[in-house]
Amino acid sequence: FNAIAILTSGGDSPGMNPAIRGVVRAALNNGIQVYGVQRGYSGLLAGDLRVMTSASVRNIVQRGGTILKSDRCEAFKQKEVRQQAIKVLEQNGIDALVVIGGDGSLTGAHSLAEESDIAVIGLPGTIDNDIFGTEDTIGFDTAVNTALDAIDKIRDTASSHERYFLVEVMGRNSGFLATHVGIAAGAEKVVVPEYEVQIEQLGQQLCDNRRSGKGSSGIIVVAEGQTPGLTYRLAQQLKQQGEEPRVCILGHIQRGGRPSGHDRVLASSLGAMAVRYLQAGYSDIMVGVANGAILDVPLDSVIRYRKGLDPKLFELALLLHK
Ligand code: F6P
Repeated sequence: FNAIAILTSGGDSPGMNPAIRGVVRAALNNGIQVYGVQRGYSGLLAGDLRVMTSASVRNIVQRGGTILKSDRCEAFKQKEVRQQAIKVLEQNGIDALVVIGGDGSLTGAHSLAEESDIAVIGLPGTIDNDIFGTEDTIGFDTAVNTALDAIDKIRDTASSHERYFLVEVMGRNSGFLATHVGIAAGAEKVVVPEYEVQIEQLGQQLCDNRRSGKGSSGIIVVAEGQTPGLTYRLAQQLKQQGEEPRVCILGHIQRGGRPSGHDRVLASSLGAMAVRYLQAGYSDIMVGVANGAILDVPLDSVIRYRKGLDPKLFELALLLHK
């Protein structure tokens, strides 16, 4: 390869920095030049590229966010706009591109691979863990642990005041984050978009728990992707039944912070493997994880299929609190 460009796109996730470092160091060690693209696809369109040296990725393995910055680029859905991006890459003598991001970013990567001779590799970077073809994504583990830190604290107050807390976690329209957080936090209930919830029934169950002495406080983890406003409606229902619930929306704190050890190793490995796959002649693939091993998945299938929530895991979340 003459040169590889790398960009981060969509919602940032903790571990994007070690992934960038993995790509840059692996490429430089193999004598390949690397360009860092600023602000995702928007920066690519603007030709906002800089040469990356080994020093450019020094002291970033532990930092959250992305040193390359990120954005959501609506315009990139248009073919004419993508043609402009291809031109920029070609003009700079770049023949390979690594894209780190979620669903939308990988869709853009697939189109670029189809519409040009540039070799394109995607890496799954999102706290949502909702990418088909990989059991793990860069940032998911850190986000789970960030939510747990918060919930462990909230539980102290829930217990002192004998209250229910409805804690809303991110995850777009999937319940992976909520399910993992719910199990690990010992939540009384977990509500996810994949399974319909009867508000009255849930409220009744929680009130019955108090009356039967089974519990007088607790954490209900609600995935944000539920029908809009569901967390507040649940709180309203509990109020009508005489409870004094509180709502806590964890929001963007789940996106930031130092990547966990797990995410640093995952991101570094995927970054370095992206360069290996490029050298082996692959393109239009995502590098992901299945059964603990790193593998390639065609981008075409990554964007075509929806990753399903493991019903056994969700059942476990509920079972442990029957
Ligand atoms: O995809 C990551 C994510 O944090 C989702 O969980 C959430 O729905 C969305 O991004 C929020 O996006 P933004 O930061 O653009 O508001």
